[in-house]
This record gives sequence, C-alpha cells and structure tokens, in this order.
Amino acid sequence: MKARIVLLPGDGVGPEVLEECRRILLAVAGLWGHDFILEDALIGGAAIRATGRPLPPETLEACNGADAMLLGAVGDPGFDGQDVRPEQALLELRKTFDLFANLRPVRLLPEAADLTPFRPEVLKEVDVLFVRELTGGIYFGPRKEQGSGSDAHDTLLYSVPEVERIARVAFEVAEGRRRKVTSVDKANVLASSRLWRRVVDQVADDYSNIEVEHVLVDAFAMHILRRPATFDVVVTGNMFGDILSDEASVLAGSLGMLPSASVAEGRVGLYEPIHGSAPDIAGRGLANPMGTILSTAMLLRHSLDLEEEARAVEDAVATALRQGFMTPDLGLGGGTPCTTREVGDAVLSALEQTHAPATA
Ligand code: NAD
Ligand code: IPM
Ligand code: MN
Repeated sequence: MKARIVLLPGDGVGPEVLEECRRILLAVAGLWGHDFILEDALIGGAAIRATGRPLPPETLEACNGADAMLLGAVGDPGFDGQDVRPEQALLELRKTFDLFANLRPVRLLPEAADLTPFRPEVLKEVDVLFVRELTGGIYFGPRKEQGSGSDAHDTLLYSVPEVERIARVAFEVAEGRRRKVTSVDKANVLASSRLWRRVVDQVADDYSNIEVEHVLVDAFAMHILRRPATFDVVVTGNMFGDILSDEASVLAGSLGMLPSASVAEGRVGLYEPIHGSAPDIAGRGLANPMGTILSTAMLLRHSLDLEEEARAVEDAVATALRQGFMTPDLGLGGGTPCTTREVGDAVLSALEQTHAPATA
C-alpha cells in the first residue's frame, strides 16, 4: 500500500526516539512491499528556533491530507516562562485535526515483569486502555494569564456532545475487550464532572452488555496501583487522563514504554509516546525508544489498517526485551543497559528475522 506519513521529531529525546521509528517504518515497507513516503516537518522548540512559531504553516500543510503523523516529543526548558512555547504546537495540532480521542494502552509485557517496582501478583494480567478526552476540558476552556494583575484562571468546561463522543469511543472499544468501562471524574466537587457522569450513564444505556462504573479520581489514583488488573477501559477528561496515564506507566516498567494514539472520527491520527522531551537525558543515547516504536505499531494498525505489520512490530519489541536489550530506565532487572540505537537495532533485527522479504 501507499501511505504518506509526516514525521515530527520535535525536541530533546524526540528526534532520538523518532529516528528508530523511521528505520522501523522503512523496514516494514521493505519487508511487506509497501510504499511509505516519510516527510519530516518542524514542531515545538525546534520550530520556534527556526521559524519563530511552534507549529509553522509549512508543518500544518505537510500534515494536511497525510495518512498519519508520528511525533517524538515537544518541550524545551529554554522557553519556560515565555509567551510562545513548544507545547502550544501539540495542542494546536490536536485541535486542528479534531483529535479528540487519545488512546493510551497500558500493557505489561511479560518480558518486563521483573522490571517494575511491583510484586508479580499485582501485575498479573494488567491490560488497561485509557481513553482520554483530548480537545476539551481545562486545557481549552477560557483562560486568563496573570499579566500585570494579581490573579489568573483556567476553566474546566465540558459540553454534552464532547462527553458523548468520547464516551462512545470508550464503549465501542470495550465491546472488543473485556466489556468493562470505568469512568473517572471528580463529581463530588466539580459541576463539569457531574455533567460528565450523567452523559456517560446515558451513553451506557445503549450498551447494556457492558459493565460501567464511576470512580472518583483521587481514589482511582490509588486503585490503579493496588488492583490494576480489575480495570479494562478507563474513560476520563483531558487533565485527569494526562496525569493518570503517566502514573499507570510504572505498571508497564517505565514511562518510556507507553504508546499513544490521538484519533479523530476518521482514520487519520497522531501517534506519539506518552513521555515528553526528557531534557534531563537528551542527547546521550539513554532514551527508551520502545514507547515510540509501539506508537508506530498503533499507527500501522489504526491509520493504515496493517494489522499483521503492527503485530510484527509489537512482537519484535517483546523479543528485544526478552533478549535483554533495554535502556537504563528499565534497568531494575540488572544486566548491561543499552543505548537508544542498540535497542532500535535489536527491534529491527527481530523484525527482519521473523518476516521474510516480499518477493513481488
Ligand atoms: P518527561 O516525560 O519528558 O520526563 C519525565 C521523566 O521520565 C524524566 O526523568 C525523563 O528522563 C524520563 N523519561 C521520559 N521519557 C523517557 C524515555 N523515553 N526513556 C527513558 N526515560 C524517559 O516529562 P517532563 O520532564 O516533566 O517534561 C519535559 C518536557 O516535555 C516539558 O517541556 C513538557 O512540557 C514536555 N512534554 C511533552 C510531551 C509530548 O510532546 N507529548 C509529553 C509530556 C511532556
Ligand atoms: C501529553 C503531554 C501534553 C499534554 C503536553 C506536552 C501539552 O503531557 O501528551 O501527555 O498535557 O497533553
Ligand atoms: Mn502528559
């Protein structure tokens, strides 16, 4: 198949992890005989330095009509406290393409079971899918910066249609999973959460075969670590989803392991690891590329409908882990930590070994 994919390296470890995905995409194209056109575009701090804007018009133009976008990370402490910041690019991209549903699977690869701070019995069968609302809530409500005044505010606003469409995504994906939806809110305090809960219950009426539960966010932050295996699909608002998915990444061994897909109603999507630009380790070959590589697998599956290729990439990550190739963030298991490139090499060779080149 032919597909145009925009690569957005961004800042910090972003370009390092994305480079490994470029190699994976080219390998997939070679092995299965696809024609992938990979187009690079500037985003974040790198784009501000080059053009003065975090999401330059040329980048938007490249993304327009592309089959998918793959992002490294944005964020650069050099822009802290300034009006123009790298993160604005990501928010604008999500809004422009109406990428309202952010899917963040948290799965423990058996190969990583010894690499987390949890006891094995807590981790048994952890397979949670966070469905995070991505284009509303407190990220996009009316806002007032302090300026020369003495206060500032952000507004947590949700409308019925916004909650309805994200709830539908959650119930739809739950149909193909363990048929349980946990909605996380703060309905004991927030009016927007009471609306959220009402709408989720209304949508639930259309899915009588799916179990639904409501859990307050503070308690959920505890339950997800105490009994992670009891959750299947977790639907929540923009900010709660941001925080809880970073927390849940510890269950998978490292923040560097988690992939994410931000999707709209159609096939197009933005794929990225859930971590940021990690300025504390950037430029030293320490970044774990597996979250971004697993995001590439999500891209193959969701935007290009290439299930076999997606699985092959996921299997190759598991094989590399089993063979002991891992960056230091997964280093609790001992052994010699590898560089970003060495992990990329290991995933690539696992991919190449299990899949013979196309003969056509
Ligand atoms: P971060 O996710 O960048 O890093 C948090 C911690 O996890 C750091 O100690 C880092 O070294 C470690 N880490 C992150 N990714 C890793 C990887 N692949 N391998 C190994 N270790 C990894 O969060 P932060 O430090 O709070 O934020 C840094 C910048 O990134 C900020 O500017 C923030 O706005 C931005 N950010 C961007 C995105 C994104 O582009 N999607 C996501 C989150 C944060
Ligand atoms: C994420 C990030 C972003 C968010 C930032 C960089 C805007 O933390 O994708 O998880 O808060 O959504
Ligand atoms: Mn985040």
